[in-house]
Amino acid sequence: MTGRPRPLVLTVVGARPQFVKAAPLGRAIRRHAREVLVHTGQHYDREMSEAFFQELGIPPPDRHLGIGSGSHGAMTGRMLEALEGVMKEVQPEAVVVLGDTNSTLAGALAAAKLGIPVAHVEAGLRSFDMRMPEEVNRRLTDHVSTLLFCPTRAAVRNLKAEGIRAGAHLVGDVMLDAVRQNLRRARRLPLRDLPPARGYYLATLHRQENVDDPETLGRIVSVLERLERPVLLPLHPRTRERLRRLGRQLGGAVRVRPPAGYLEMLLLESRARAVLTDSGGVQKEAFIVGTPCITLRDRTEWVETVRAGANRLVGTDPRRILAAVKAADRPRARHPSAGVYGDGRASELIARRLTEFLAARAGPAARRQA
Ligand code: UD1
Ligand code: UDP
Repeated sequence: MTGRPRPLVLTVVGARPQFVKAAPLGRAIRRHAREVLVHTGQHYDREMSEAFFQELGIPPPDRHLGIGSGSHGAMTGRMLEALEGVMKEVQPEAVVVLGDTNSTLAGALAAAKLGIPVAHVEAGLRSFDMRMPEEVNRRLTDHVSTLLFCPTRAAVRNLKAEGIRAGAHLVGDVMLDAVRQNLRRARRLPLRDLPPARGYYLATLHRQENVDDPETLGRIVSVLERLERPVLLPLHPRTRERLRRLGRQLGGAVRVRPPAGYLEMLLLESRARAVLTDSGGVQKEAFIVGTPCITLRDRTEWVETVRAGANRLVGTDPRRILAAVKAADRPRARHPSAGVYGDGRASELIARRLTEFLAARAGPAARRQA
């Protein structure tokens, strides 16, 4: 009997948070379909890319486009052209894109223009701030997607408000899947020279609007330097480069480290007194592991963390940052985290919905054969 072969899906990744998401997602997709994994090369340092493939057991990419860094237009344009070529050759039945980076937008646009259905994982998130390149990427991606996998109810509502109803599925968050699958491993890592649990702050900083303006960057790092406990700062290469150009050395409480591996990051997050960050993923992870978060932005897409009292949005005003650090010192009421990001099986749900969609699309003829 010749059944319909398992559907062929092409997944586009390129930047650090996408590797974290692609680990549980790819495993689930491969249980139901054949996956071609394409790495745009947006992130390329070993510790920003390959380290995640190794640590999380992600198969090496089937294609590596080697695009590298550049201005938004140049980078996205180069990706678009290269991805179109690969998609024409591979002829996938669907293209999966994740999150909100330039790699996400390029993947979605290339597929949509070729008439290939786009499945967007982390659809519907909004910061309502179009100055953020990520907001542009996610809005455009959602509007060319056929399947919109929403991590939260708020995301489904955001899509509805923009007139997108068909194709939206509430599935939970694949980053919760990743934490669930890795936290135990992370807690077994050797502690080496780490300060005692709750005896340090963990900070990450890389948003364009925070680090590209020397005044804002200087203001943030000056506050971190003044905190009363050590501040571990695994430094994103974008921020490292900005500080280098300014000739700004970091001192005081700040302990600069290379970008952390994923397991190390989970360990650091789960033992920190508080996390100070402008990252999307790190806000969510702090919430999941139960560490107070102070977000160095005015808005967040992860509104559930703020509503639960687990995350304070303080922007970059030193007084507000310091007040939030003080508040995080007070004994914490445990925030109810259950449920808002799903049950840790978002990846499996996505893989099933995607393959069901493709089976239905292949039509009755294909189903009769199978
Ligand atoms: C990108 C995403 C952002 C995401 C972040 C995750 C976009 C628009 N931005 O931001 O949404 O939160 O990834 O980390 O897609 N660099 C290196 N080595 C690397 C990667 C980057 O040195 O491996 C340096 C280069 O100087 C580069 C700069 O970092 O110009 C910025 O990299 P880029 O990928 O453009 O943006 P990110 O800030 O990493
Ligand atoms: N992360 C990591 N090492 C670091 C900083 C972040 O492993 O030094 C992980 C983090 O745990 C989360 C993801 O990378 O899973 C978030 O990526 P990032 O902050 O770069 O991007 P964002 O989520 O803001 O798009």
